Amino acid sequence: MRILAIETSCDETAVAVLTAPLQVEVSLVSSQVHLHKPFGGVVPEVASRAHQEWLPLLVQQALKESDLQPDDIDLIATTRGPGLVGALLVGVSFSRALALAWGKPWVGINHLEGHLASLDLCDPSFDPPYVALLVSGGHTEYVRVDENRESIYLGGTLDDAAGEAFDKVAQLLDLGYPGGPSVQKAAEEYEGDLYPFPIPMKGKPGCDISFSGLKTAVAVALEREGIADEGIYSKPYWAASFQKTVVEALLLKLETAADMVGEKRIALVGGVAANRPLREAAQKLADRHGFQLGVVPLKYCGDNAAMIAAAALWQIQKGEVDPESLDADPNLFFQTA
Ligand code: KG4
Ligand code: ZN
Repeated sequence: MRILAIETSCDETAVAVLTAPLQVEVSLVSSQVHLHKPFGGVVPEVASRAHQEWLPLLVQQALKESDLQPDDIDLIATTRGPGLVGALLVGVSFSRALALAWGKPWVGINHLEGHLASLDLCDPSFDPPYVALLVSGGHTEYVRVDENRESIYLGGTLDDAAGEAFDKVAQLLDLGYPGGPSVQKAAEEYEGDLYPFPIPMKGKPGCDISFSGLKTAVAVALEREGIADEGIYSKPYWAASFQKTVVEALLLKLETAADMVGEKRIALVGGVAANRPLREAAQKLADRHGFQLGVVPLKYCGDNAAMIAAAALWQIQKGEVDPESLDADPNLFFQTA
């Protein structure tokens, strides 16, 4: 079984070829960051147009790099949601036309399941059941993945996603876009006492989380204390203080989520899972509790199509190729209990 996978849900155009069980023949990701940078965030119309221009070229390049012909492909898998509707439609309509022209079956994939399946790409032995924190630019969700790879939503952000908060704070500190990597980099330049931001939702039951209060707290503190050239109140100081608070908040609720369902295996996936302090703190949390931790490799943290191919394998295993799943659905989510 060889899968050609396509991902266009946000600002990365991505194409991959995966041969079952889990051999990634090629994984190409074309980032649109430079197109959105001047606006400080993703502009949906710009994203759709770039996908339309790049996707056919990337498919050609993927076949060339893997030395394959359309005949060698058994299935086309494409992200059908959640995401920006225009961006999703480009991927779905292009790939369905391709499936028709090549005479191949087509399957629509939930982007969130893609992030979960990205774990298989590093360590196929890290099998479900587990509790995962999916943390990205658009999502901060806690889910339990059961033995049959069904994902049940346990809780998540009530407002902003963690990645959005990173992007917003980077903007306040004028650190550049995208915010996550630039905040992490700035924070590495500071060592010492940190600003005591309150940990969002600490002490509240359940594993819902919120970052809008923290964003406001950062803005208010910056207004009050200003930005110094170095040391306390410098950009690295603010970046490190914010980052530490987010990491603590995210992991506190991961601990709660694991506790809620009595799970001893935890996982970290999504764009923000690239954050080094978050990865290190998750390992400490796992060591402290004797948990087994699965972390997506850096290469597959951000949006990519290899994870979409891996999720297609989940879908095949589950025997789910639902005719309703033929359309783009910007609001696709997890099953709720
Ligand atoms: O998964 P992803 O590529 O796209 C979505 O599905 O949203 O995640 C992108 C997000 C952005 O908000 C970016 O700032 C964040 O992941 N990110 C990071 C780091 N690298 C990327 N956040 C914190 N630390 C990082 N090192
Ligand atoms: Zn994503």
